[in-house]
Parts: sequence; C-alpha cells; structure tokens
Amino acid sequence: MKIAVLSTKPYDREYLDKFNTDHKHELVYFDAPLNSKTTNLAIGFEAVCVFVNDAIDKKTIVKLAEIGIKLIDLRCAGFNNIDLEAAAKYNIKVMRVPAYSPQAVAEHAVALILTLNRKTHKTYNRVREGNFSLENLTGFNLYEKTVGVIGTGKIGAAFCQIMLGFGCKVIANDVTESEKLIKIGVVYGTLGELIKNSDIISLHCPLTTDTKYLFDRKAFSKIKKGAMLINTSRGALIKTSHAIEALKKEQLGYLGIDVYEQEENLFFKDLSESIIHDDLIERLMAFHNVLITPHQGFFTNEALDQIAITTLKNYTDFEQGLPLKNEVKQ
Ligand code: NAI
Repeated sequence: MKIAVLSTKPYDREYLDKFNTDHKHELVYFDAPLNSKTTNLAIGFEAVCVFVNDAIDKKTIVKLAEIGIKLIDLRCAGFNNIDLEAAAKYNIKVMRVPAYSPQAVAEHAVALILTLNRKTHKTYNRVREGNFSLENLTGFNLYEKTVGVIGTGKIGAAFCQIMLGFGCKVIANDVTESEKLIKIGVVYGTLGELIKNSDIISLHCPLTTDTKYLFDRKAFSKIKKGAMLINTSRGALIKTSHAIEALKKEQLGYLGIDVYEQEENLFFKDLSESIIHDDLIERLMAFHNVLITPHQGFFTNEALDQIAITTLKNYTDFEQGLPLKNEVKQ
C-alpha cells in the first residue's frame, strides 16, 4: 500500500523500514503532524499512519475522505485523538497497535516513582559537582506502602505485578476486575477508597469522557496528604491547574507525569532554544517534587520493534482483505 506516515521522527523511520522488508509497502515519511490543516500531504495515498498527538477530528476526517483515504492506522495503543463516529460515517477504517510492550510503560511508571522518591536525578547532578552530601535526599521505603492503580488492563496489570514485588499493598479500581490479579493479591475497591487510602496512585485507564479530569480539585482534596500521583496514561486525566493548586497546598506530595494535557505543542520537540508559551508546564517544572518526561513510556527497543511489526501487518491485513484484528470501532 502507499502510505503517508505523519509525525515521523528518525526512530520511526528506522524501525518501520527495518520490518517493511517483509511487507514492501510504499512508505513516505512526513515530519508534520496530521490535522485539518495538513491533510493535503496525504493526497495520492491510500492510507495514513499517525501517532498520539495527531488531531484526527471530524474536520480532518471529512478532508481525508475527500482525498480518498481508506485507512487510518495508529502506531500506538490509545485512540482518544480520533473521532471514531466521523471515521465510521465516512467509511474510513481505523486500526491501532493494541499491545506492544505493556512492561515498557509499567516500568517507566516505576522509574518515575523511584526517581521522585529517592531523588537520584538530583544526586546525579550533585555528585558530578563534587557534592556528596545527603541533605534533602530523604526518601521513603516502598515496602508495605499502599499503591492505588486506576485501570488494570495490560499496562496496569504489569504495573501491579511489579509493585507487589516491592512488597507494596496494591489496591485497584477498574470497571472490570481481573481474577488473575485478585489471585496474586490485588484488592479491588471503589475509586473513593483508592483515592483516600493510597500513598501512591498510578493512572493506567484510557482517556474517555468518563475519565477526563478524573483528578480535579475535588479528587485532590481527598487524597492522603503528601501522596504521590503518577500519570503515564493520557494528560487530560489530570486537570493540571488543579494539580498545581494541590502541590502549592502540599496536599499532593509528588507528581510524576509522562503525559500532559497540552503536550501536543511541546512533546517530541527540542524547544531548548525557544520561549515556551505554556505557563502551566513552566509552573510545574518549577516544583522540586514534580518530574516530567516527554511521553517516553513506550520508548524501548522491544516496544518499537513490536509497534513497527503490528503497524505494517495492519496495512497488509487491510490490503489482502484479511480480518482486521486490530480495528478500532466506536
Ligand atoms: P487496556 O485497554 O489494556 O487497559 C485499560 C484499562 O482501563 C481496562 O482494564 C479498562 O477496563 C480500564 N478502564 C476504562 N475506563 C475506566 C474507568 N473509568 N475507571 C477505571 N478503569 C477504567 O489499555 P493499556 O494497554 O493498559 O493502556 C492504558 C493506557 O496507557 C492507554 O489508554 C494509553 O492512554 C496509555 N499509554 C501510554 C503510553 C506511554 O508511552 N506513556 C504508551 C501506551 C499506552
């Protein structure tokens, strides 16, 4: 198939080219993201390949339909950035990579917890400057702490297993409970109980109309004083301005985020020589107890291999009229 691959970085090209020898699709790479202003880039193609921050709203879909696009393939798991109703209406199939390496994201959530807790990022800089003091580096044992996990699908389940290994008490909330996790010691309860009792809360549910701003002023007022919140899922699960209030009040003790509600203007770009016009992230960056990573949870060799393999196979399935195992429907 002839495919316009949008929002590409050198690593996307490297991994897609590596596995395309098995498929022989015609891949044309564009740095630009896909949105209603850039659909012309896809003229002459049968399909597009997009990523987490491409804005595939109704306007974009109408334009893609006009130029004859038949398939939108997401090289990621989340699909909150696509208007599925519009895609169905205009007869454009949507596919994704439902699972590539849940461990990659789960392990990154743990990295955020350990860094925020044991402050190794600060020590690294201190020691390089010859400062071997321990002042202000006090952490806490994870052993026997209560960790609340919201969303125990593939990533949440991998995260639960790691935290059980640390000797934590793992409590969870999900619309469907996992028997497998219950058997290994995870205790399910209400969202209210989880928020009230957790020392660390980690978000692994998708962004939907139900979960948007799950952590707002009201939720922050109910967390344990000094609790840690980790978000490797989607930025808008947290109302950032309310998180800032909770940090200022010292109600929220630590915040570790790999995703941010306005990340599309920032993440995946080198803005080190630019003025950042986002006062919320600037405020967040000023807190000593906030750690931000730029959506790198998925970024391991194993995950990149699997993303490329599944993405290319999705096109082949479509092209050969095979069952669309990874189709996303409303
Ligand atoms: P999954 O579909 O396997 O699991 C999601 C779980 O959330 C399901 O068990 C579901 O029942 C639950 N859920 C849905 N609505 C809920 C609600 N209102 N309250 C509590 N639980 C709810 O998805 P997976 O693969 O575990 O991914 C989770 C999220 O992680 C994705 O939606 C995506 O946003 C994010 N992600 C982030 C990456 C990163 O690089 N930081 C990479 C990949 C995914």
